[in-house]
Amino acid sequence: MNRLLITGGCGFIGANFVRWSLANQPDWEIVNLDALTYAGNLANLADLADHPRYRFVKGDIGNPRDVAAAMADCDAVVHMAAESHVDRSIEGPSVFVQTNVVGTQVLLDEARRGGVGVFVMVSTDEVYGSLGATGRFTEQSPLQPSSPYSASKTAADLLALSYQTTYDLPVIVTRCSNNYGPYQFPEKLIPLFVTNAMTDQPLPLYGDGKNVRDWIHVEDHVRALWRVVEDGRPGQVYNIGGNNEQANIDITRVILRVLGKPESLIQFVTDRPGHDRRYAIDAAKLSAEIGWQPQVKFDDGIAATVAWYQQNRVWWEAIKSGEYRDYYERMYANR
Ligand code: NAD
Ligand code: DAU
Repeated sequence: MNRLLITGGCGFIGANFVRWSLANQPDWEIVNLDALTYAGNLANLADLADHPRYRFVKGDIGNPRDVAAAMADCDAVVHMAAESHVDRSIEGPSVFVQTNVVGTQVLLDEARRGGVGVFVMVSTDEVYGSLGATGRFTEQSPLQPSSPYSASKTAADLLALSYQTTYDLPVIVTRCSNNYGPYQFPEKLIPLFVTNAMTDQPLPLYGDGKNVRDWIHVEDHVRALWRVVEDGRPGQVYNIGGNNEQANIDITRVILRVLGKPESLIQFVTDRPGHDRRYAIDAAKLSAEIGWQPQVKFDDGIAATVAWYQQNRVWWEAIKSGEYRDYYERMYANR
């Protein structure tokens, strides 16, 4: 039996990663280290809490003792614990540096000490900054992050690669585009707009609504991460993308159409400062070296995702009725 440590397994991508892994990787035990911040939710994995190949450790990636306890006897690490929301990083960058940069350094040091076989650093396409109307990000594109969030992720991404160069730690970096799917916290575009539309609240679209993201279903990202754990080359960077560029206004219209809600719910609001205009990923390297391709068609994925939020109203209503209300007020009331 192999053992993999995932950090941030109670968040959106992490919960999908744990679920998929327990269902599809019978030779692996999964240890999940998560601090349960506002974005971490035990309910995401409640039905798996007693699974014989799963162990949850509540702890902070910035605390060496928590990290040592969780990483003991692990063969692989998939590091995705982070502060992940761009708007929150504009409001308060400090925790982004602490978690995303310092936390990553603590994990890397422990991985060195414990001699793990592979350390996958889950970075993001936001490290590349913004594209104009043409072109796509390759692994050679310059790193030009725009927000405190993406700058902190860039620091962590480069720190991880430096541990490969300096200490020969088997680090692999992945840079994925925008994920969507079940269990995404309703501060992010798709779950926010789906749940607002379901309750006939306005959908606050930033700027002219024409910013473009390259959407990938979270299960395609999870599959890519496992392919990288098993067959990635240490020291390499791999882009992961959905080959699915969409303007925010088009995503919004799709959501309204699937839900049968009127376009009058769309409300154009003041733009996000430093808002990246366009992301598009060239994932040819991952495809050529490892044979990975995204499988979920966007039309199917978005319909299934909207259906998930319809069927799991209790899950997101619990989130939206708590401290989230203050956040929403701060972020959107005078926008
Ligand atoms: P998320 O905000 O939903 O979840 C983050 C998780 O990390 C939460 O469970 C939280 O409790 C945990 N966490 C935060 N600080 C911690 C700490 N100090 N110690 C331990 N755990 C801590 O994030 P997500 O959207 O699932 O993203 C996961 C990772 O993937 C992040 O590293 C993000 O940068 C990266 N990423 C996300 C996307 C996307 O579209 N969501 C795309 C590319 C890359
Ligand atoms: O590209 C990968 C990144 O995708 C990840 O690294 C981040 O963790 C993840 O949060 C996501 O970042 P974005 O900033 O692209 O995601 P967000 O859902 O916040 O916004 C998507 C687009 O929608 C962006 O152009 C801003 C816009 N938007 C967002 C919100 C929350 C709106 O127009 N209105 C909104 O209320």
